[in-house]
Amino acid sequence: MNLSFYISFIFCFNLFAQTKDELNKKAGEEFLKTHFFENGRGMMISPDLVKFVTAFEKFGTKEIKEKVFQDRYGFNLHNNDVVGFYDVKYKHLRVGVLGCTACHSGKAAGVFVPGLGNKTIDPYKIGKDAYLIQKVWGITGRSQDFKRLHKIAMHFAKVSSDKKVSNQTRGLVPDATIQTFFYKDIGLDYPDLPNGEVKVPALWGLQEKRKTGIFASGEFNGDSVGWEFGAELFASDSADHFRTVLPKLEHVVENIFYNFLPPKYPFKVKSLEAEKGRKIFQNDCLQCHGDHIREPLGYPVFKKPKFIKWSRVQTDRDRLSGMQSFMEIVEQSSVSDLLKLNYRDHTGYIAPQLWGIWSRFPYLHNGSVPTLYHLLLKPEKRPKVFSMFHAGEKYRFDENHLGLTLPKNLSYALSKAKRGDRNYYFTQRIGHSNQGHYFEFMDKYSEQDRLDLIEYLKTL
Ligand code: HEC
Ligand code: HEC
Repeated sequence: MNLSFYISFIFCFNLFAQTKDELNKKAGEEFLKTHFFENGRGMMISPDLVKFVTAFEKFGTKEIKEKVFQDRYGFNLHNNDVVGFYDVKYKHLRVGVLGCTACHSGKAAGVFVPGLGNKTIDPYKIGKDAYLIQKVWGITGRSQDFKRLHKIAMHFAKVSSDKKVSNQTRGLVPDATIQTFFYKDIGLDYPDLPNGEVKVPALWGLQEKRKTGIFASGEFNGDSVGWEFGAELFASDSADHFRTVLPKLEHVVENIFYNFLPPKYPFKVKSLEAEKGRKIFQNDCLQCHGDHIREPLGYPVFKKPKFIKWSRVQTDRDRLSGMQSFMEIVEQSSVSDLLKLNYRDHTGYIAPQLWGIWSRFPYLHNGSVPTLYHLLLKPEKRPKVFSMFHAGEKYRFDENHLGLTLPKNLSYALSKAKRGDRNYYFTQRIGHSNQGHYFEFMDKYSEQDRLDLIEYLKTL
């Protein structure tokens, strides 16, 4: 190869390299500005209440802001902004609107990543406080527009804080709240549903993930966009909102999510150990999680993930148990043309690709295992209680086990957890089991094998 050709070849590669990193960065910036409030519809708090929130944000000291938005509700603070909360003008009103990034941006080891799941958000708590405050706020009769928006905001807050369908632990989000939309749509009161609490998944690689199915268990068909709107649906007052914003949703999925890259591990990786871990991974894990290869410039090549029957993985079933009736009401709804389903003979979970897995703790769809190390141990050896408070902050990150630090005072943590403290993940709560994802080949792992695997997983 002659030299000038070689140089221009490298040059082109570099241009390409910049572009992918830049596209990722741009995607993150655009996502942080995106919400789906439209014509007075969407995830919002009661009109004009936002004036207080904004004033409070502006003049409240940093500590107050942290205590309320971050510590109490689990929002992320980034550049001193509350991520995913917007102050939007609508006619003569000002509306506090929530966006996707309230849940779909997060921190790991103190690093803020748009597209990572928020580890600390507490929809129940947000809904409960909003409901109480808005109830008083709404008493004074105001304009027709105020009344219409107030009603939507009250419904959103009420469903979010209804224990029949809400989350028990911060950092988990219940699928049951989405289901409530479909009951309302066909004119029924929703029953007591399995809550189906899940952690918020990371969004990179969605272009391939979609081909197997949307969400943890893949019943939802991803051939067209639609299910991506799930969280917003129940907050909205009509299917018409959904249809109106569909082109925007398509843009967000295909031009923002498809450009997301997994964040790089921010600390040192031991390369010899990682190489040994890679071999174990090829032997044992690749059969389900697929290979993780990179383009010549080092960017991940995302692959379509596999669907694994429940009888093989045997993790918590609560998320699967309500699906049959869920699928039935979706089919009766006014949006059944937009929300397609995957019919399979078996229920199960998708074995996700593991890019950026260092940042996606706690592990499994329900977030029941605090570290990668514990995921490689027998279920009975995994922690039964751990704290989700400040889960994304650096001081909560355990580099050796890769994931969350464990409580120093276990009996204190247990007694808090047993009394229902929302900051503690407690595996005895319904839907919180840490069983499953233990395979025969793991019996023969030495301590060093586990550490080698962890080292390899840091490189993804
Ligand atoms: C209240 C928190 C919350 C909000 C707000 C939210 N999501 Fe999600 N999102 C989730 C959870 C939880 C899941 C996983 C559900 C499951 O697996 O059962 C999810 C799943 C997804 C997925 C599928 C990922 C996968 O791996 O299959 C996409 C795409 C998505 N959301 C996009 C969006 C968009 C777009 C918005 C804004 C319109 C949004 N989400 C708003 C919590 C939220
Ligand atoms: C039989 C198939 C199978 C094998 C073998 C397997 N996994 Fe998994 N894995 C799954 C499935 C399915 C899930 C999703 C389960 C859930 O979320 O409940 C999963 C989830 C995970 C998660 C959690 C992902 C997240 O976002 O929280 C990690 C990490 C993981 N596997 C690592 C491994 C490693 C490392 C190995 C090899 C030592 C391995 N797996 C072997 C099927 C498998």
